[in-house]
Amino acid sequence: NKSLIDLSSLEKTKIDRLFSVADEISEGRSFGLADAKRGSAIPFEGFGKTGALLFFEASTRTRMSFETACARLGIYPLRLDGKSGSSLEKGETFEDTILNVNAMKPSFLVIRCGDELDFHDIAKKINTPILNAGWGKRGHPTQALLDAYTIRKHLGTCEEQKVLIVGDVRHSRVAASHFELSKKLGYEVALCGPKEFLPEHSQVKVFSSLKEGLQWSTAAMALRVQLERHENKYSLADYRRDYGFTKENLKALSSKALIMHPGPINQGTELDSEVLQDPRCQVLDQVSNGVFIRQALIYLTLSEEK
Ligand code: CP
Repeated sequence: NKSLIDLSSLEKTKIDRLFSVADEISEGRSFGLADAKRGSAIPFEGFGKTGALLFFEASTRTRMSFETACARLGIYPLRLDGKSGSSLEKGETFEDTILNVNAMKPSFLVIRCGDELDFHDIAKKINTPILNAGWGKRGHPTQALLDAYTIRKHLGTCEEQKVLIVGDVRHSRVAASHFELSKKLGYEVALCGPKEFLPEHSQVKVFSSLKEGLQWSTAAMALRVQLERHENKYSLADYRRDYGFTKENLKALSSKALIMHPGPINQGTELDSEVLQDPRCQVLDQVSNGVFIRQALIYLTLSEEK
């Protein structure tokens, strides 16, 4: 089974192959229907296949980029968004929903859900590949992969890069996946943020000063402040002053370094709107790369390659 549930079990050779397929897709050898028409050397028979996109939690980027990836591969995406309009409203469980959709024989399942589901448990019950599209606080592997792919694209390699993750790490599945991926790809992760936003026991370097962290880093990634998950509300003005990606604070970051954010952004809290125009800022390029990575992932999931 070619499920992608976490990154700790994904071999480095598989990540390298994923990135090289994503390169070819981004360069126009699309591994999909459009390319098959142009006579691509690598045609892909997606037509007639379905992919089930089950988003039990809200999403814009991940859901729509998986949908775009399916469309470009000629695969029909079957969408189930939240509870509204599905039999979840009648009390059907998430797991029963997945098992019933799986009985319709999609070629793969893309699932976003909270911590209440156990992907490993579901993977034991079905043979269809499961692609994790964000699982509670556990992980968001395709986001970390597209972030690393963006770093590699702009800085040449992920190896030896210094990635500063700023903000709400304690609640972040993106950070959780970067802890796994950094070990595979050889980049160093460090953290910065208010102590109540950081893990109680960090395995990695922690900067108390944003300025020092930015001076150290070759890529700086702001995370969304998930205020809905904090009991003691942190002052947003204080947060912006001390940890926000403002024009003033980002003077400490090298002119060659990258500014990143997985989205969605609370503009004016963790990142100012004017920073989106900064030439170092790759936020929208991350989104574009997300389609290439997810298209490559689906292609490799369905291909004969081991
Ligand atoms: N980065 C990310 O996962 O965004 P969405 O929640 O909009 O999918």
